[in-house]
Amino acid sequence: MTTVLVLNGPNLGRLGSREPDVYGSADLDALRTVLEADAGDGTRIDLRQTDDEGELIGWLHEAVDSGTSVILNPAAFTHYSYGLRDAAAMVTKAGLLLVEVHLSNPHAREAFRHTSVISGVATGVIAGFGFDSYRLALDLVVRRSTE
Ligand code: DQA
Repeated sequence: MTTVLVLNGPNLGRLGSREPDVYGSADLDALRTVLEADAGDGTRIDLRQTDDEGELIGWLHEAVDSGTSVILNPAAFTHYSYGLRDAAAMVTKAGLLLVEVHLSNPHAREAFRHTSVISGVATGVIAGFGFDSYRLALDLVVRRSTE
């Protein structure tokens, strides 16, 4: 059984009611259900959300220690958290996949969202496809883990 950590940063706990025109009207439980259905028998989805930078960094340390691949939506931390970047770098330096995902396309939004301090240390980035950003990332992580 392969576990995939699906980590979500600040304000994503409000998914469903937060700016539905940008992020859609489905919540994180709905995302978990979709990913679990996609995952199939051999993959366990461990989906978490926090508004706390330190907690998110701790979860990346946990991924390194347990050898777990990560799908990460860093939310607003994307744009300024060097602490999160350094923790994400540890994941990919350990040879694990870390896919940065975004529901919206930050490049089509305000200028401050055009910078990601995470992308440079991520394995890759998928943005702009709503829940499908996560689904594409999961497909990739599962495929790479079974290759
Ligand atoms: C986001 C984009 C970020 O700019 C924003 O701060 C979020 C969500 C997205 O999924 O589109 O909270 O990461």
